[in-house]
Amino acid sequence: MAPSEHNKDFVDWFRQSSPYIHAHRGRVLVLGFAGEALRSPGFPGLIHDIALLSGLGMRLVLVPGARPQIEERLRLRKARMRIVNGLRITDAAALECVKDAAGNVRIEIEALLSMGLANSPMAGARIRVVSGNHVTARPLGVLDGIDYQHTGEVRRVDAAAIGRHLDNGSIVLIPPLGYSPTGEVFNLNAVDVASAVAVALDADKLIYLNEGRPGGRRGRTPGSLLPGEVEALLQRRRSLPEDQVRILREAARASRAGVGRVHILDRHEDGALLRELFTRDGAGLLVTREPYEQTRQARIDDVGGILELIEPLERAGTLVKRSRERLEQEVEHFQVAERDGSIIACAALYPFARERMGELACLAVHPDYRGQGRGEQMLAQIEQQAREAGLERIFVLSTRTSHWFRERGFVPAGVEQLPGRRRDLYNWQRRSKVFVKTL
Ligand SMILES: CC(C)(COP(=O)(O)OP(=O)(O)OC[C@H]1O[C@@H](n2cnc3c(N)ncnc32)[C@H](O)[C@@H]1OP(=O)(O)O)[C@@H](O)C(=O)NCCC(=O)NCCS
Repeated sequence: MAPSEHNKDFVDWFRQSSPYIHAHRGRVLVLGFAGEALRSPGFPGLIHDIALLSGLGMRLVLVPGARPQIEERLRLRKARMRIVNGLRITDAAALECVKDAAGNVRIEIEALLSMGLANSPMAGARIRVVSGNHVTARPLGVLDGIDYQHTGEVRRVDAAAIGRHLDNGSIVLIPPLGYSPTGEVFNLNAVDVASAVAVALDADKLIYLNEGRPGGRRGRTPGSLLPGEVEALLQRRRSLPEDQVRILREAARASRAGVGRVHILDRHEDGALLRELFTRDGAGLLVTREPYEQTRQARIDDVGGILELIEPLERAGTLVKRSRERLEQEVEHFQVAERDGSIIACAALYPFARERMGELACLAVHPDYRGQGRGEQMLAQIEQQAREAGLERIFVLSTRTSHWFRERGFVPAGVEQLPGRRRDLYNWQRRSKVFVKTL
């Protein structure tokens, strides 16, 4: 690539990410990842990304797992942890391994976050990491006659203390263990700890770095799910590995409990965390109570977004030019599809009540999002609105998209079939073709 093109790409990319930089500053992000991540060659890259997010003003809580580190220590002691009903039994020997491994994981992460060599991505980062007794635990107890011993569950999270550390600009590191008022230590699951911490902190985001593509095979899981849809997925896909089930279940739980957005990313995908945070389409699977994309009636503050979408089409002559003033006056005729705060499709309906007809106008889908049924969805929305308004037919004037409309039930018609008022405004120079659809 020529240097000037390269520069332009860089400048464009940096500018496009600026709304996200503003949006994320000061926001609380809880990041959970498995102990396997620490051992992968990509881990220093993840640490650099974490340092970058911290530098951009995000308030970060890291919740690492330590399973392979625990397993390794168990092997050395020729011990093992029994698993019953998907739950680990932590006996006294295993607890020693858990403490040892959790401490080791913590120190390794602290060491990596302390790096600051010149000419490295960490130069000048000066990150402070805080860890402590932030999670109170209780024993899982005896279930179906099985005593789970030192395996515990989260009882309370000291959100106030964590909040203070975050206010001071520190990254908070929470290992997967908890302390009880009796002075005991309990082995906790890092996935559960991450969701409990995110809920207690009322975090803006909880991100799980998954050990594979979330929800199974590529292309099978949509990008965004409501908590109820996650639960339905878990019912349907009973063969999913235990770790994935846990992440999905906790993602749904945290979302229901008020965490704005829970993302599940594939840890093996380099830069997935940055793509998730700084691009409109993100990466991986999002669990949220708010639909990520919605079609709705346009409002006055959508005018800027609509203009951005239609101006290139007006310049190309595909759509008739509309001024900002006109759009502001007519905005209530518009429907828009909003995706993560951006307008990616629009369409308008102008009713002619006397003739029981409506004009479908200004149908546009952002070029990046075409060919996925959005045009058709906007059309369906307009047809529905027309029916509700008691209209019997809709018409459209088109120069270049006639086939798209014909394939969707519109038939060619003459200018004389337009409602009188619209006929008078017909632009004979533009010579648009008229198509009508009976509802
Ligand atoms: C027309 C438009 C709204 C369709 O949006 P979309 O989200 O891509 O629509 P859908 O996904 O529902 O449909 C895509 C199908 O339409 C086809 N299509 C797109 N533009 C077409 C055109 N001008 N003529 C015929 N077919 C067209 C695509 O090839 C695709 O069909 P395929 O999957 O069989 O290849 C979009 O292409 C657009 O914004 N175009 C520019 C604006 C415009 O022409 N608006 C109409 C003004 S009257």
